[in-house]
Amino acid sequence: MPPSYTRFSTSIQPESAFTVLAVARQLIAAGKEVIELEIGDSPFATPDGAVEAGIQAIRDGRTTYGPSVGLPEFRAAAAAYVTEEHGFEVTAKHVVAGPGAKTFEQLFCEAFLEPEDGVLVFSPYFPTYAANIARRGARMVLSSLRASHAFRPNVGDVRRFLDEDSRAKAIFLNSPHNPTGGVATGDDLRGLADLVRGRDVAVFSDEPYDCMVWEGRHQSLLAQPGMLEQTVAAYTFSKSFSMSGWRLGYAVSSPETVQVFDLLTNTALSCVAPFTQLAGVAALQHDRQYRDDRMKEFHRKVELLVRGVNTIDGVTCLMPGGTFYVFPSVAEICNRHGITSHGLAMYLLEGADERLGVACLGGECFGAAGAGFLRLSCAQPDDRLTAAVSFIAAATTRDDRIVAYLDAHPDHRLETPYALSD
Ligand SMILES: Cc1ncc(COP(=O)(O)O)c(C=O)c1O
Repeated sequence: MPPSYTRFSTSIQPESAFTVLAVARQLIAAGKEVIELEIGDSPFATPDGAVEAGIQAIRDGRTTYGPSVGLPEFRAAAAAYVTEEHGFEVTAKHVVAGPGAKTFEQLFCEAFLEPEDGVLVFSPYFPTYAANIARRGARMVLSSLRASHAFRPNVGDVRRFLDEDSRAKAIFLNSPHNPTGGVATGDDLRGLADLVRGRDVAVFSDEPYDCMVWEGRHQSLLAQPGMLEQTVAAYTFSKSFSMSGWRLGYAVSSPETVQVFDLLTNTALSCVAPFTQLAGVAALQHDRQYRDDRMKEFHRKVELLVRGVNTIDGVTCLMPGGTFYVFPSVAEICNRHGITSHGLAMYLLEGADERLGVACLGGECFGAAGAGFLRLSCAQPDDRLTAAVSFIAAATTRDDRIVAYLDAHPDHRLETPYALSD
């Protein structure tokens, strides 16, 4: 008899972008043309400097285990980069390497959470937060991000959580925010820091989009007085340096927390591949112009897509403050046709046309607060973005096809209409 699986492993949800990606790839393999706006991956090549450094490191035999906390030269380069780019001083001892930013969600939860502890999460949220909080048996407490507040964190909700939850222990902050594109202002971060400072509360500040801030510069919670002791900020090479498949990131925190992460990394991962870290050092030191040029491209594409989707009947979309995601409200279209936003996304991919589809995500893939929205990633050539807009505009008027799709997929029927304003 096969052994039974844990309740944890059979109840967690995967990152939905990867699920839709798999469906899209199946349809493409079967001959359908799909405009892929579902996954937040860079379409650009890894910069040459990083590629060359990685290959050279392999040739130089940097292919064995390294220190769990990260190579000294990687930690020093990451510290110098954060100091120069984000305007607060850190050193190598504040840095721990990881295979991307996502791992730090798990390590953060292992470092700080006991079963039943309360964790404030702004919703919609990056889907793997839920699994990592559940991994420790902790409790997720949600605070909704609203379009009317530019999808910025509600500091009043933070105060209520800290005052009223007897086991309040952690906060997950993500700015710039996936999926909404919202960016916390300096005042938001000051307000949040003033509330958590001096309490037994840790903040996971997820900052993979630190180079995708479309007005002004990125601001980290770490820059607020006292926050280095209470915050773990996670950074990645996936977005800024087009290195998602290399699996490289780092976290910045107090030396004490870094030591705990060192131990947790040791027991779970051993280390990040040294040659990957050396490619990262080259990117940080030599490829910032390449990064900035690519970020400008993303910004232009975001503006193109927002302008486009706002021309579609029934769609309203804010200009995101950051990220390469566009998060339009499609509540009116969903209510008109009695279809959920996830159902609408699946219809655009599978049901709207035999030969062409658009892959994107329903906002509820990021928690109930995302219902009534779609998340579209801009990581496609301009003509594909324009074609996607025309396709969505036409597909959402084809009543007969939507009815047929809902008949075949009744689970996508919308039972209660979405609120049209928040
Ligand atoms: C909010 C957020 N956190 C973490 C990650 C994970 O990035 P990485 O590739 O560095 O693991 C992503 C990637 O899309 C993200 O959007």
